[in-house]
Amino acid sequence: MSRNIPPVTGMKDVLAAEIGVWQHVERTMAGVLAAYGYEEMRVPVVEHTDLFKRAIGEYTDVVEKEMYTFTDQGGDSLTLRPEATAGMVRAAISNGLLRGARLKVWCQGPMFRHEKPQKGRYRQFTQIDVEAIGFAGPDVDIELIALTHRLWKLLGLTRVKLQINSLGTPEARRNYRELLKQYFLQHLDQLDADSKRRLEGNPLRILDSKIPATQAIVANAPVLTEHLDTESQAHFAELKAGLDAIGIPYTVNPRLVRGLDYYSRTVFEWITDALGSQDAVCSGGRYDGLIAQLGGEATPAIGFAMGVERVVELTRLAGQAPAAAAPDVFLMAQGEAAQRAALKLSEQLRDALPGRGVVVHCGSAKFKTQFRRADESGARIALVIGEDELARGVVALKPLRGAETTQTEHPLAEVTARVDEFLRRST
Ligand code: HAM
Repeated sequence: MSRNIPPVTGMKDVLAAEIGVWQHVERTMAGVLAAYGYEEMRVPVVEHTDLFKRAIGEYTDVVEKEMYTFTDQGGDSLTLRPEATAGMVRAAISNGLLRGARLKVWCQGPMFRHEKPQKGRYRQFTQIDVEAIGFAGPDVDIELIALTHRLWKLLGLTRVKLQINSLGTPEARRNYRELLKQYFLQHLDQLDADSKRRLEGNPLRILDSKIPATQAIVANAPVLTEHLDTESQAHFAELKAGLDAIGIPYTVNPRLVRGLDYYSRTVFEWITDALGSQDAVCSGGRYDGLIAQLGGEATPAIGFAMGVERVVELTRLAGQAPAAAAPDVFLMAQGEAAQRAALKLSEQLRDALPGRGVVVHCGSAKFKTQFRRADESGARIALVIGEDELARGVVALKPLRGAETTQTEHPLAEVTARVDEFLRRST
């Protein structure tokens, strides 16, 4: 006996019934990005493992525990991308796109992290990732935040709040890291095992520990924003002034350090209280050192990624999901010759009325059943060809929705024009 094969844990199907809201979110975002002058790019789902180790950092959760890594037939260690920034930067370098250029680019697609699955957190999830490469900011930092803010407005989302922070230059961060390390060393016996391990590699990650005893130690730790270099302070002040000027509210969260190592200066996160413990909807920041670290010429850059599943769920909860698109015309027929005529007519309608939805009832069934299916499809009119209509060379047009209800009959040669008139009239 054959056994059903289950889906992979943490990987989710998006069914046809849910696709409308997905497409609404994706189209709205694509429209916003185009309007701000960002261009789409497509990069592979698989990259060399070293790329992620070098970009994201050896001591991050993502690299330490969550990567889907495998050796391919050629013996190369490859990894399913856990995020898109590393691949986008790799693509900019490999294709020689840098050389002082300024790129405003985005990509969309599945990311893979072997995390503990729960509501809103998956092992395969979708990001829309946006990168502005070659810009030192803070004007572009403000632009990226404004772009996301506009998206929430267009999607009707109100339960999202902006948090910002600055991590300073890599040097300021290094100094702060040392300070933090000294502080945590004084409280070593109170730290959890994970935090102790991070003390050497990346003490900043201890700051966003979820463990209460560690959080209590973190509460009195030195605050990064008080140890910023002067230039980063000015950059951050300008960012805040810019957000104030365009009226985007924010909170400065000095504990916002982000889970990936490549950030410097601006970091931000849009969070929500509507999705339980998975509160980050869209996050990102500046990564001025990453491109040089990956072998490209030193180029400042900033970007963010939006968790599409989370934005889709927020859109659904806000009651903003659009109704599924219904066809305009539903064709039904009975008898082999009439069914053939209906198929032919459907192609003529598609030729003559591009953009109109034309659905044919495939397979034979009683007209009663076909009418029920036509109704369920949401179509505006039904075109009916029975044996009798076929013999007389006519088609019956039955309005299914709206004020007009009378069924009419039209010669086969004229029916396309009549359908066009009807649909225009009742739009
Ligand atoms: P991230 O914070 O790791 O940043 O992920 C960005 C967003 O992806 C999160 O805010 C969240 O909405 C979504 N997300 C992350 N993990 C999951 C998951 N397991 N299930 C569902 N959604 C998830 C980055 O990935 C950076 N590359 C962003 C960036 C671009 N920074 C600069 N440029």
